[in-house]
Amino acid sequence: MKHIAVIGVGYVGLTTAACLAELGHHVVGVDMDEGKISMLRQGRIPFSEPELPELVERNHQAGRLDFTTAYPEAMQQADMVFICVGTPPTPSGHADMSQVEEAARQVALSARHPLIVILKSTTPPGGNAERVAAILASHLPLGINAPLVVNPEFLREGSAVYDTFHPDRAVIGAWDASAAEEVAALYAPLRCPVLLTDPVSAQFTKYASNAFLATKISFINEISRIAERVGANIHAVAQGMGFDDRIGAEFLEAGLGYGGSCFPKDVLALSAIAEQHGYYSQFLHAVMDINAGQRSLTVAKLDEALGGLHGKRVCVLGLAFKSHTDDVRESPALSVISMLCQQGAYVQAHDPVAMPTAQKVQPSHDTLKYCPDAYTAALGCHAVLIATNWPEFRSLDWSRIHTSMPGKVVLDGRGLLSPDEIRAMGFEYLAFAN
Ligand code: UDX
Repeated sequence: MKHIAVIGVGYVGLTTAACLAELGHHVVGVDMDEGKISMLRQGRIPFSEPELPELVERNHQAGRLDFTTAYPEAMQQADMVFICVGTPPTPSGHADMSQVEEAARQVALSARHPLIVILKSTTPPGGNAERVAAILASHLPLGINAPLVVNPEFLREGSAVYDTFHPDRAVIGAWDASAAEEVAALYAPLRCPVLLTDPVSAQFTKYASNAFLATKISFINEISRIAERVGANIHAVAQGMGFDDRIGAEFLEAGLGYGGSCFPKDVLALSAIAEQHGYYSQFLHAVMDINAGQRSLTVAKLDEALGGLHGKRVCVLGLAFKSHTDDVRESPALSVISMLCQQGAYVQAHDPVAMPTAQKVQPSHDTLKYCPDAYTAALGCHAVLIATNWPEFRSLDWSRIHTSMPGKVVLDGRGLLSPDEIRAMGFEYLAFAN
């Protein structure tokens, strides 16, 4: 059993803290945000994530998981400290390292005995790990050692707890071999492959993995544009491709494209890293362009099907960037809604959990209305757009929706519905190459 401090209790930090506590460690989560910490102390979590509320509550009650805004309190007993703060993009696309650097400074200033500092935040290779190590070294009390280990996080929102307990791998980058072994030992109960490498390669692996997955999505979206022109069904094509083990079945869903806090930020950051090193990556720019293009293509498809958008009423089902989360960061749904409103359409939107988060960030339009359920959202509309892959949209009473709509267009932006069933009800079913 270790004493562990986790700095930053966002998706990555809170999930890491709760899962480590569940494995039997004593964990204290630290965050500057007093509101967040007091919510957590009352057993409430600040975002929607399956399984996490129960896990936090159980471990908090068992005394293995606590929260504080004070570094010294969290650091008192810690043998290991995980840095899990954000690295949001700067206007140039580079990752903003200021929260990581401040966390390292605070950790070093509060340290009273040797410990291992584990960097989980996604940080660009090229001097950043070295800089964090230097910040630690220059602020630690004399005679106290705190080796840095880079250990990127690969969890997905919406399945964060499951992914943490069932990781595909752990990537551990360190200059200090015994610190690396100690971190590897934390993963032993999870029985996953562990890659021990240097810090730069560990950092780069995270960017390369996210860029590859984003590429897979942009690839299938590009193929769907061609498939549409030749009359091929993209779902059959993706299925046929996915049976090949070398390709793999996942991340071949054509549609509105990727959003969220990782892929858009990390692909942009990787292309910025490349440019900083004198290399313009046409490839990564193509991945981003294709992804942005899927959003305008969605609006163009609706425009064509409705004979113009001005004055038309469009129901948008789904606001989150994907199902099982209330996260709307870089959500394709929100950019499509903005484009629809700009082109004079009325939008009636619904999401099972993301309406409050969407309302906080989406510019309000007179022509945008949030509706309490999918049926109210579809009422009086000319078209329905499925923008998020919430499974419950599949089991809606689509014949009831059909009756309540003056127009009969369904644009399935996530390939969620059965085209034959929807067409049989009298809808004009549109998708990306169906
Ligand atoms: C991703 C990575 O999967 C994870 O390993 C990393 O640590 C963080 O970034 P996340 O952003 O939570 O996780 O979600 P993910 O399930 O990967 O989906 C990302 C986006 O891609 C979503 O907008 C999703 O709708 C979209 N997507 C996914 C597609 O458009 N098509 C697909 O086939 C798969």
